[in-house]
Amino acid sequence: MKAKLGVNIDHVATLRNARGEGHPDIISAAKEVIKSGADSITIHVREDQRHIKKTDALILKKKINKPINLEMAPTEDMLRFALKLKPKYVCIVPEKRQEITTEGGLNLNQKNLKNIIQKLKNKKIEVSLFINPNLKDVKRSHILGANAVEIHTGAFASSLKNKNKNKVNIEFNKIKQCQIECQNTHMKFNVGHGLTYDSAAYLKKIKNINEYNIGHFIIGESLFDGFSKVVKKFKNILVK
Ligand code: PXP
Repeated sequence: MKAKLGVNIDHVATLRNARGEGHPDIISAAKEVIKSGADSITIHVREDQRHIKKTDALILKKKINKPINLEMAPTEDMLRFALKLKPKYVCIVPEKRQEITTEGGLNLNQKNLKNIIQKLKNKKIEVSLFINPNLKDVKRSHILGANAVEIHTGAFASSLKNKNKNKVNIEFNKIKQCQIECQNTHMKFNVGHGLTYDSAAYLKKIKNINEYNIGHFIIGESLFDGFSKVVKKFKNILVK
């Protein structure tokens, strides 16, 4: 299986919004990363729309020729918006207003989850759940009817960055066990959060990762090397 790369362009919008005008343009950014090999464009429309806005998502859907992966909180307002946007994929994520980024996986005990997943699937939208790397949550995702899970790789990525070998092994094994469980339950297996060239390359030891979703590192690194070089380098790491 050829692993796919989803590029999260939220931080292009963060930069744009810093001046309240149109530059840098997110459509141009999306087209540039697609030209360089991105397989999908990931956007997180937050409740406060602090980076990507609903209007951005609607324009993106019209202007790009690759799938959109909409990250959204499990709220009625976002469900209505997703049903209007009809992206190819939705990834349901937890959301706290004050957090800098998505700090952990979803709480799968929320009552409305099953209903939201079903309504999205009824419109032929593929649904993944952003979860912590534990077997219980993979099993529960399957019961809830998810098509895929995306494992929060933050703890793994930061232990690799900090060269904490013990923790790297522990976190890596948790992710690997989750992949096996996903395979057994026929759900797609995606990963994301905090990934860099090194951590993405390390995760390649796990076969059958469907998609890597990467944002912050790609945007940051592109300040030095440009989108084209950075996205191509990731594709080389993931696909070779
Ligand atoms: N996947 C999900 C579900 C996320 O919420 C995020 C962060 O917005 C990412 C992937 C990308 O994480 P990062 O920006 O750290 O690469």
